[in-house]
Amino acid sequence: MGGNQVSMVIWNPAWETGHALIDQQHKELLAQFQTLLVAIHENHPEDRIPGLLKYLADYVESHFSMEEAAMQETGYPWFKGHKAIHDGMRARVVQLVDGFRNDPTTMTEEVIDFLTDWLLRHINEEDRRMAKHLHQSGHQESRLHH
Ligand SMILES: [Fe+2]
Ligand SMILES: [Fe+2]
Repeated sequence: MGGNQVSMVIWNPAWETGHALIDQQHKELLAQFQTLLVAIHENHPEDRIPGLLKYLADYVESHFSMEEAAMQETGYPWFKGHKAIHDGMRARVVQLVDGFRNDPTTMTEEVIDFLTDWLLRHINEEDRRMAKHLHQSGHQESRLHH
């Protein structure tokens, strides 16, 4: 904690996968990490962080589940590998939440940066490949809204 400079992660259109719903959720996820980053620099971060973490963890879960359902519905050949990466990220988010509960000083800019980088790498590699497959399969975005 501390330091006056908050590093910003601004959404870059180059990160779009071309799938509107997925892109919209990625922007929201990034914004959530950003809000968390801002919150750790506030005077009483312990007031806001638990609620932000809960929202982030829930959002991560619903986003990953949505992608996994879409991959399964379209018989995506790299489903297993993609899901394994999601599971790693799920575990990391659980660690983040538990770590904060046990010791709020574990919530550092470095940790959040690390997760943001991880998320962006995943979006640009595996998610991009998945979105291309969904497009080619004619998977309707409207079917993802449920
Ligand atoms: Fe994603
Ligand atoms: Fe993904």
